[in-house]
Amino acid sequence: MPKSSKTYISELKDNVGGEVVLCGWVYNSRSSGKIQFLIIRDGTGLCQCIAEKGKVPDELFEQLKHLGQESSLTVTGAVRADERSVGGYELAVTDAKVIQEASDYPITPKSHGVDFLLKNRHLHLRSQRQWCIGRIRHSVIDAIRRFFNDNGFTLIDTPIFTAMAAEGEQTLFEADYFGSSMHLTQTGQLYLEAAAASFGKVYCFGPTFRAEKSKTRRHLTEFWMVEPEVAFIDLDGLLELAENFVAFIAAETLRSNKSELEGLGADISALEKMKPPFYRLTYSEAVDILTGEKTKIFLDEQLKELQEQKQQLETKIAGLEEKQGSQLKQWQRDKIAAELIELQAELAETNTKIENNPKHAKLAAEFQWGKDLGGSDETIISQMHDKPVFVTHYPREAKAFYMKTDRNDDRVVLNFDLLAPAGFGEIIGGSVREDDYDLLLGRIKEQGLNTENYEWYLDLRKYGSVPHGGFGLGVERTVAWLAGEKHIRQCIAFPRLMDKVYI
Ligand code: 4AD
Ligand code: MG
Repeated sequence: MPKSSKTYISELKDNVGGEVVLCGWVYNSRSSGKIQFLIIRDGTGLCQCIAEKGKVPDELFEQLKHLGQESSLTVTGAVRADERSVGGYELAVTDAKVIQEASDYPITPKSHGVDFLLKNRHLHLRSQRQWCIGRIRHSVIDAIRRFFNDNGFTLIDTPIFTAMAAEGEQTLFEADYFGSSMHLTQTGQLYLEAAAASFGKVYCFGPTFRAEKSKTRRHLTEFWMVEPEVAFIDLDGLLELAENFVAFIAAETLRSNKSELEGLGADISALEKMKPPFYRLTYSEAVDILTGEKTKIFLDEQLKELQEQKQQLETKIAGLEEKQGSQLKQWQRDKIAAELIELQAELAETNTKIENNPKHAKLAAEFQWGKDLGGSDETIISQMHDKPVFVTHYPREAKAFYMKTDRNDDRVVLNFDLLAPAGFGEIIGGSVREDDYDLLLGRIKEQGLNTENYEWYLDLRKYGSVPHGGFGLGVERTVAWLAGEKHIRQCIAFPRLMDKVYI
């Protein structure tokens, strides 16, 4: 007898030999005369359901045969284990009920352009790729919360409307707050510093906003950031906290989402290495690397590899184009077309990298001490390492007003960025905070900020000022790095980009 309650695909392993009811959507289907193969997804996984003519009513068999992608239905059947099948289990269908028949679903198994997919994000979220990324993001966020909750941190929710600019006035989103000027928060940090003087160890976690005028793969205008802040901590303490934190997130994601990571083609063995200690470089050492011989050789090697890659891609594309000319079934034609779109995108990307290589080499070779590291500089340093790299002690001029000046060398501040490896780049920015009233006031003025808005922040340096610090980790960048996804816009369900908000 079929069970009356539904079973999730993730529970099939406990139901082998039994009869279950699955509720879901048609992900894919194919027919071979007397057998209909339906791949169903239900939010927990995929399952191939096999309907055989004669084993289900004729009318139902015909209906299933013509069922479009993303139609919703319930399927009843017997569970079999089958290693070759997607997810490892199959359903021998005995009955099914179509809930809604969908036709002409706009996103087909063929490849589509980025613009089209973003316009259809409400539907594209159902794709395997977005599903895997969404599950990984969920685990990353779960690990973030657990790490801080289990290590004595108190959650503080900081405001989204604020009059303060902590990360530069150029990237503020203005908001009209009943006639007075306000903006959307760039960081919860300044409020957290107040809270750290009450609770000791605190964190905030929420959406943050930056009117970044850059359309890079690393920038969103709305992104999620988690920020811990700790009273009585120095730079070494912060680095240790950050590496334990990132290693924990990587380990938890590997533990919970190995199959999703595999599905996305992420580098699992690289992730297994993400154990402390991470590499540590000072900014000055990073500059020496960028302008040194080692980087020149590294980039020359890289250029050679890219040129080889380009040739291989061109050969593959030519081969497939030739195949397209021969007699093929429609599904074979579709498959080749999809492969071609992907290879062509890869080729375009390789060409861009070939074009950029000499530009990046020049930028690196001519890097002047004093500037902030640019995207390409970060990429080079991170490509040269197999684990995350801390870069510390940046020049004061290049960084935010609240960072503490190094008392041993007042040209630099006690800060760090953490660069994820393999070319990914910055995922964390943090620092020890200036705790001296006069020095902090001087920095606020130096940056031309309105001191009135910072009076309460300065108060913290009047009443029991202590050495303290913290950092911020961007969720989308972290997910993109772990998932091996190039563009962070894929790592949030509904991305907000500089040039467009699609839906
Ligand atoms: O380095 P940022 O600007 O540091 C701060 O906001 C500090 N107040 C944090 C702190 O010390 N409490 O940003 C921190 C991180 C970056 O390393 C990056 O991961 C992410 O936030 N981030 C962005 N992610 C996506 N799109 C953007 N436009 C981002 N800007 C920063
Ligand atoms: Mg930063």
